[in-house]
Amino acid sequence: MENLFSMDGKVCLVTGGSSGLGSYMAHGFLVAGAARVYITARSNEKLNAKADELSSLGTGECIPISEDLSSLEGINSLVSKIKNREPYIDVLVNNAGLGLATPIDSLDVGDWDRVMDINARSPLFLTQALLEPLRKNATQKDPSRVIFISSVAASMVFPSVLAYSSSKNILEHLTKQLALALRDDFIRVNAIAPGRFYSEMTRRAWQDPEAESFKAELKRIPAHRYGELEDMAGVAVMLCSRAGSYFHGEILNLDGGFRLAF
Ligand SMILES: NC(=O)c1ccc[n+]([C@@H]2O[C@H](COP(=O)([O-])OP(=O)(O)OC[C@H]3O[C@@H](n4cnc5c(N)ncnc54)[C@H](OP(=O)(O)O)[C@@H]3O)[C@@H](O)[C@H]2O)c1
Repeated sequence: MENLFSMDGKVCLVTGGSSGLGSYMAHGFLVAGAARVYITARSNEKLNAKADELSSLGTGECIPISEDLSSLEGINSLVSKIKNREPYIDVLVNNAGLGLATPIDSLDVGDWDRVMDINARSPLFLTQALLEPLRKNATQKDPSRVIFISSVAASMVFPSVLAYSSSKNILEHLTKQLALALRDDFIRVNAIAPGRFYSEMTRRAWQDPEAESFKAELKRIPAHRYGELEDMAGVAVMLCSRAGSYFHGEILNLDGGFRLAF
């Protein structure tokens, strides 16, 4: 029981780790004892600064790799950099994503493709390309973990974010399909479906804490607050440590009750 939430010595990859939810999970993994956490994003400057900040937590090392994961070239380049450095990885978190408001009347095919490429296609093909290093160190006692970051929007109907909701719905279905497809490989596949969290994606909603719209939103969320670092890190560490190793094909709603009230 003592080491139930330990990630001692684990090698992890968190896409979109330069800000928001990805950086919260990377933070949690390092505090829980991970040896190396790779974080990726497009913007070099932000990514390097975040890796320096997380490495100085004084536990394991946080290593930045800059790639655009919306293209297959970016995915392949990331995979070859990881494989050059690591014989195996224990944890893959598919977190990088794009939030775009796309109601039906103004939706164009370019918006649809941009959202689908990074939110749905990229997580699937990155996972596929990393199956070999994910299989290598996996055992029944200590399986490797794949996490998809979905959204409450996957199962709720928000016509204003048509492409985004659809992309997250695909992820949730993929979670179950891959969980079954990889059942003999000791790779646990699960998804986290967050509600409202503080991040760059939601900045417009929370940047003025005195705004009436923000106060009204907090009032309506049953937990009466946005999600924070500890909420995201706590659930991600649970899923990736001994504590959560019996979850498989599960979607964890992490939303303070948001989906019940909107
Ligand atoms: N915040 C919320 O309330 C909330 C709720 C539900 C679900 N989510 C999901 O949580 C995940 C993280 O979002 P967030 O809220 O933390 O947003 P965020 O702060 O904007 O972080 C997004 C991260 O993804 C990276 N990224 C975006 N496009 C990329 C690309 N093409 N290639 C590589 N990296 C890319 C970003 O870095 P660069 O821009 O430098 O590439 C950044 O590191 C997303 O999948 C989002 O849908 C968020």
